[in-house]
Amino acid sequence: MFAFASLYLFVASVSAQAAVDALAGFGASTTGGGSASPVTVSSCSDLEDAVGADGAAVIQIGGILSDCGVIDIESDKTVIGVGSNAGLTGGGFRIKNADNVIIRNLKFYLSQEGDDLVALTGATNVWIDHNEFYNAGITGDKDYYDGLLDITHASDYVTVSWNIFHDHWKGSLVGHSDSNADEDTGHLRVTYHHNIWNNVNSRLPSLRFGTGHIYNSVFTDIPTSGINSRMGAQVLVESNVFNNVELAVVTDLDSDEEGYAVERNNVYNNATTEITQTGSWSPSYSYDLDSTDDLESILSASAGVGVVN
Ligand SMILES: *[C@@H]1O[C@H](CO)[C@@H](O)[C@H](O)[C@H]1NC(C)=O
Repeated sequence: MFAFASLYLFVASVSAQAAVDALAGFGASTTGGGSASPVTVSSCSDLEDAVGADGAAVIQIGGILSDCGVIDIESDKTVIGVGSNAGLTGGGFRIKNADNVIIRNLKFYLSQEGDDLVALTGATNVWIDHNEFYNAGITGDKDYYDGLLDITHASDYVTVSWNIFHDHWKGSLVGHSDSNADEDTGHLRVTYHHNIWNNVNSRLPSLRFGTGHIYNSVFTDIPTSGINSRMGAQVLVESNVFNNVELAVVTDLDSDEEGYAVERNNVYNNATTEITQTGSWSPSYSYDLDSTDDLESILSASAGVGVVN
């Protein structure tokens, strides 16, 4: 009998540039609407009907839709922007207790008061790729807008790739409360790679209870904290570039219990870390790592909207 338990399929290649149009990481099984024929929507009500219907669908948004409020996406959907200026303002998406959703090539900005731009709650198998998220900057009431991308209530198997997050207080909260261990423990498995984070105050992401893999991203002008591991969460932080970042990786901030972190091959330019507990998790999936030397140019060319379609 073979000892499969000790066989790790840990394959990280540093030579090849990571494919810009590929899905890797915890969300790798996501297929969304698959090969369904695309439908294009150009009003809030058409969008709401299309993403809320049963069954697999590919929904294209043709431009910016304003003041739709929060729209729920049901299972087996791909929602994708056409061109480089499609998305939502004055609203956002929620994926609540649904499975298998892809959100790509969309701008999300200036949500309604008190709401996230995109919220995952009890959501599984989700790929958030090549989008742009922002609010009004690190200014005004920090709770007027909520998170850019929040992932809570035992959401699981999520990949967040090639996005640009900028100009807001609260980035990406994974696990909303110290007192939610019963629901969240063993879930909240998220991969963040090839993202740009600019001028966001904190939570890039903040992770409670779950497991996070954060690689090949560039963080610039982060005044409070970057990757915040708490309540026993495990994070692997590798091959990122941090420019002017306070607490780029931290494990003892803001919660009752500390988290765990492993950091390797990161570049710190005027950036600090505070890792109090060394982590033990490493990925069992394969993924391509780019060299940090090339990362800023790769991401400025290939992250955000207008790249995939
Ligand atoms: C270093 O980074 C901090 C943010 O953590 C920033 O406030 C400060 O201005 C930076 N220093 C320089 C010399 O850029």
